[in-house]
Amino acid sequence: MANSADQGSNSEEADALVIFGITGDLAKVMTFGSLYRLEARGLLNVPIVGVAFDSWTQEDLAAHARPAIEGTGVTIDDAVFQRLMARFSYVQGDFTAPETYQRVAASLGDAKLPVFYLEIPPSLFGTVVKGLSEAGLTKGARVLVEKPFGHDLASAEALNRDLHQYIREDQLFRIDHFLGKLSVRDIMVLRFANQMLEPIWNRKYISSVQITMAENFGVADRGSFYDPVGTLRDVVQNHLLQVLSYVAMEPPAGSDVDVINDRKGDVFSSMPAAKPENYVRGQYEGYLDVAGVAKGSTTETYCALKVYIDNWRWSGVPFLLRSGKSLPEKVTEVRIIFQEPPRLGFAREGFTSPKANQFVMRIDPDPAARISLQAMDAQGRKLDTITLDMDFQKEIGEAPTPYETLLLAAMAGDRNNFARQDAVEETWRVVQPLLDNPGPVYPYAEGSWGPGEADQLADGTDPWHLPWAPSES
Ligand code: BG6
Repeated sequence: MANSADQGSNSEEADALVIFGITGDLAKVMTFGSLYRLEARGLLNVPIVGVAFDSWTQEDLAAHARPAIEGTGVTIDDAVFQRLMARFSYVQGDFTAPETYQRVAASLGDAKLPVFYLEIPPSLFGTVVKGLSEAGLTKGARVLVEKPFGHDLASAEALNRDLHQYIREDQLFRIDHFLGKLSVRDIMVLRFANQMLEPIWNRKYISSVQITMAENFGVADRGSFYDPVGTLRDVVQNHLLQVLSYVAMEPPAGSDVDVINDRKGDVFSSMPAAKPENYVRGQYEGYLDVAGVAKGSTTETYCALKVYIDNWRWSGVPFLLRSGKSLPEKVTEVRIIFQEPPRLGFAREGFTSPKANQFVMRIDPDPAARISLQAMDAQGRKLDTITLDMDFQKEIGEAPTPYETLLLAAMAGDRNNFARQDAVEETWRVVQPLLDNPGPVYPYAEGSWGPGEADQLADGTDPWHLPWAPSES
């Protein structure tokens, strides 16, 4: 397991960015746009080298970059675009050939602290890192890898072992783009910067926690990617458990660069492995007709699970997690459900049973927070639920996109924005029994909230709440 003690102090500002797979889809939909935004904000100051197998010229690169940036909704300012393109050079090469890495070395010139960003299939991570290492390029480098990091516990451990032959853990930055969302990291700030929240943030006052990530679209053209993966691997083992760790962690303290990852590690290692009887899977009707989906596939496009954290703060509090495609809304939220207050002794009928307070943190698409309270109705005859709503964009402005944050964090060596080895292995350990024993997959109608079978997970605690959709705000 990684801990801060066995890691170096790899936190100096990087002096070059090398992107393997610059001609691929991720570069098209994410990377060029993020780099452009960073350039426009004056935050880029390093040369960028693109590496791929295609025979592109510098002009081809610019010709691909422009529509890719526009495709992210940006109106291009030519001066910014020229500045960005002037940083770029392109290296053509086969990732298995040593000469490719010699060419990368030549294009890096005097750079000593490069970030190598691997936008390539995970099966090639080892090959590229080995090539970089044999070319003497890894000494001061950081390596940034895209998810998925393994497809179960054994494969994640094997990938870690493979990469650690060439680089140390403090050089390896695993992307989970949810960690680039300000609204996710803000959970920690809301909790620990507000005296009114932290004292009640525990099993004495909280009865359950619900985390929902709903998407109102199907798998569409990603059938062949999605079908071998499914919801649990695609978003629960990584995104949702990372969100859970921010909800549940102890206050990080101290200046160690790994302190937040240490506190998250404490959460994950306190989680017993999930139980198959606390896991429900669904598949939307029509999924089997999606191109790339195997005939008769039983892959889940929805899943819900109940997990626990066995420590002093959380013992006995159920954490209900769910995510699905083709649900009615696109919304990700964390809902903290407090315990019910006792019966109101002073009041008449109608006042007697106050409902539990809730605190909702909406992560996406519009970061927001809501507190629900009990108050008298206008006639003074009974209790009503009233809500205090905060729209973060209105109050504090628009946050950078996750990839802008993550690229900058990787350049700055801020490891807390990335998934550490212990987190990856522990989260796979937690979900592994569900991979081993997935149980049946229940059909659900597109545009519904998933299979009714998931309701049973909430037996004995608050039922699932409909998420606070932006359309309601
Ligand atoms: C990705 C998953 O990691 O996250 C997708 O592979 C999912 O299936 C996406 O749609 C959601 O990200 P976001 O930021 O739009 O909530």
